[in-house]
Amino acid sequence: MAMLNQHLIDPQICIRCNTCEETCPNDAITHDANNYVVKAQVCNGCMACVPPCPTGAIDNWRQVSEADAYSIDAQFAWDELPSQQSTAQQGAGVSVPHRLEHLLDSGSDVLRGASAPPWSAARPHVNLYTQNAPATAVVAGNYRLTNETADSDIHHIVLDFGTTFFPVLEGQSIGVVPPGAAPNGRPYHARQYSLANPRDGERRGCNNVSLTVKRVIRDHDGNPARGVCSNYLCDLRKGDRLAVIGPFGSTFLMPNHPGSHLLMICTGTGAAPMRAMTEYRRRHQCDGAAGRLMLFFGARTPQELPYFGPLTNLPKGFIDADLAFSRVPGRPKRYVQDALRERAADVGPWLADRNTHVYVCGLKGMEEGVLLALRDIAQRHGLDWQRVWADLRREGRLHLETY
Ligand code: FAD
Ligand code: A2P
Repeated sequence: MAMLNQHLIDPQICIRCNTCEETCPNDAITHDANNYVVKAQVCNGCMACVPPCPTGAIDNWRQVSEADAYSIDAQFAWDELPSQQSTAQQGAGVSVPHRLEHLLDSGSDVLRGASAPPWSAARPHVNLYTQNAPATAVVAGNYRLTNETADSDIHHIVLDFGTTFFPVLEGQSIGVVPPGAAPNGRPYHARQYSLANPRDGERRGCNNVSLTVKRVIRDHDGNPARGVCSNYLCDLRKGDRLAVIGPFGSTFLMPNHPGSHLLMICTGTGAAPMRAMTEYRRRHQCDGAAGRLMLFFGARTPQELPYFGPLTNLPKGFIDADLAFSRVPGRPKRYVQDALRERAADVGPWLADRNTHVYVCGLKGMEEGVLLALRDIAQRHGLDWQRVWADLRREGRLHLETY
């Protein structure tokens, strides 16, 4: 029986912003007054639509036989996604890109089931504010994080919600709606940004959040391009008001259990959720708690690394941070996956420990390298990688967020 990994859009999360339909190079996405849907016979799984989707509604997959693929008429009628009937492509908390399939044991039963957060994670609020009814935030601060001499212009932006209810958890993201209209005359769609603050506020006890935003001045091919939302955000001044939607994210969440270990792997602005989780643990350190933190953070140079100062000042006993720099003159290129391999003796036992939760955030390109490094480390420690990988996903202990 020919199987299909059918691409679907979650109607409960989709904000009908049309981004996916505009982005799809194959015209595989269409909509009616009710839902946005994917044509199974046209979609080739190229993933072009996934990163621009502001809510993550686009990133849903179901394994079906080709004969049983959901038609667009069936999808138009849905109020919610059907559950996985047989073997799920999507693991707990992980959307598994097609190019990573070789890392999976795709025939295994353990892949069944919906995405899941860690068992001890707090329950998140999601989709409280939408493109049609956004919340208003006020800029409380906007600071450049990267050295003036650095190529990347990365900002730490603090947004205050005043009396507006905007509850968040570490690992969640928000959408920012840039003002104005796109060249086609439609309002700009929202862009998604990970939160860099813990749940009790950027400033403890305040109803504010923070973002780590890189100003996009070149496209992915290196050609000059002025990113609409990142430039809007980086140019905001204290007191400016902006439209925010969300919060988003119900799986990339941290465990509350104080005995859980956090293995955090990130590049560039992927530091945002790691900062949030680290700061939560720093603020709420419980005496005698067994849970530990290990961070692998990649950047071109120390000057390009957001939060470099505060990060390097944290006590070694609190967080074991390994910084991987790729463009330091006179030094060989070092990526986070190289750092992981060098630290195999420390990482291996963590992979064997059911208290370990792995978080990967930042450049899409690092996913495969990081997972291959984790696989090699597991195997060097005599672990069955397929088992480890399946357990990590089934138990909501491996989360990827790359863009
Ligand atoms: P656009 O106007 O949308 O794009 C302009 C051009 O630049 C296009 O050609 C586009 O393809 C290209 N481009 C888009 N993004 C990039 C990029 N990052 N590098 C190079 N070229 C690019 N961004 C952050 O800065 N911080 C975050 O914490 C963050 N978290 C995210 C979390 C999630 C789950 C997702 C999906 C994305 C996240 N992003 C984050 C990316 C962010 O949503 C925007 O895509 C990014 O800011 C670019 O938007 P823009 O409007 O400035 O560029
Ligand atoms: P590189 O020097 O090769 O660009 P950026 O500054 O573009 O956000 O990237 C952050 C860091 O991630 C840089 O050190 C960059 O190295 C590195 N990087 C680029 N590609 C990969 C990859 N495939 N795996 C891991 N790290 C990567």
